[in-house]
Amino acid sequence: MTQPVLSVRNLRTTFKTDAGDVRAVDGVSFDVLPGEIFGIVGESGSGKSVTAMSILGLIPQPPARIESGEFLWKGRDLRKLNEEELRKTRGEEISMIFQDPMTSLNPVFTIGQQISDVVRAHHDASKAEAHDQAVAMLDLVGIPNPKQRVDDYPHQFSGGMRQRALIAIAIANDPDLIIADEPTTALDVTIQAQVLEVLQKAAAKTNSAVVLITHDLGVVAGLANRVAVMYAGQIVEEGSVDELYYRSRMPYAWGLMESIARLDQRRLGRLRPIDGQPPNMLRPPTGCRFHPRCPYRDNDRCLNQEPQLIELENDHRARCHYSLAAGWVSPAERLVEPETRWHDHVRAREREAS
Ligand SMILES: Nc1ncnc2c1ncn2[C@@H]1O[C@H](COP(=O)(O)OP(=O)(O)O)[C@@H](O)[C@H]1O
Ligand SMILES: [Mg+2]
Repeated sequence: MTQPVLSVRNLRTTFKTDAGDVRAVDGVSFDVLPGEIFGIVGESGSGKSVTAMSILGLIPQPPARIESGEFLWKGRDLRKLNEEELRKTRGEEISMIFQDPMTSLNPVFTIGQQISDVVRAHHDASKAEAHDQAVAMLDLVGIPNPKQRVDDYPHQFSGGMRQRALIAIAIANDPDLIIADEPTTALDVTIQAQVLEVLQKAAAKTNSAVVLITHDLGVVAGLANRVAVMYAGQIVEEGSVDELYYRSRMPYAWGLMESIARLDQRRLGRLRPIDGQPPNMLRPPTGCRFHPRCPYRDNDRCLNQEPQLIELENDHRARCHYSLAAGWVSPAERLVEPETRWHDHVRAREREAS
């Protein structure tokens, strides 16, 4: 078995607020394998960023509190490192890319200087060599005329180019892991696809694993090897992209997949988001946290018993009481069935309610 580069075990992060404790991340565990792209998907507020920031030691405590969790990085627990060791690990082995490149780039230095600084901090390179390296990196991430553009300041770059520059900085120190939190959310759709391709190429070039965090399943479907779907601070389904796409067993994740399937079929007009609101994390629902929005819920188990992540075939886990039950129709089958069961159930519920 391949050893993971990063193993996260049972992460719980709580925020103290005036209204009470918000358990933003509640028992999250996952492994990232060397060189793979691991997607974390979920609606806004599901705990994706808090997960990433907790692992990286960047979550402000207080107001946050990491109640539990082990983050094994190449066999060492990141939580046991001191501030200096942690900063060194973040600088040399783990890179980060965030949504807003303007806050991550320094406005008073040229793009070239910012890449060169990273190169020189980690390699024995002269100024001229680091500058050449910066040009090569900009070329790699698809900046046109990199020899000229290397001397530009961040404000002279477009949004898409700034995000490419951040990718160049992220790979300049040859990391083993890149954590990218909504790296393309601020960009328009066509630029998004290009930047993601660049990220994929850059990661492959440096043989780096990527944790790709996004609220957009479409983004990970084309790119990731494995995906974890988060809901209300927990992982509710995890597996290879194919397992989730064709054999999703948790209705929330399934609903997300449905949107993608519909995009595939170019039935954009019929795209329908999952009904209902994300739960209030001050008082999450009893039983299954998704039950208030689930068209399959029953009024006994789903309301009263919290489902565990159930181990299925092919390294696939799902948090649903019915994940092993007969009668599930896989999305693959639903693709040939024009009207899907999911929406039949939603409609049946609506009829019952009215
Ligand atoms: N500073 C904060 N104070 C209180 N609660 C917070 C704070 N930051 C985040 N949270 C809580 O953590 C939850 C998860 O946030 P976050 O990880 O940022 O979600 P996302 O999945 O959109 O990245 C939010 O729904 C919110 O309830
Ligand atoms: Mg976020």
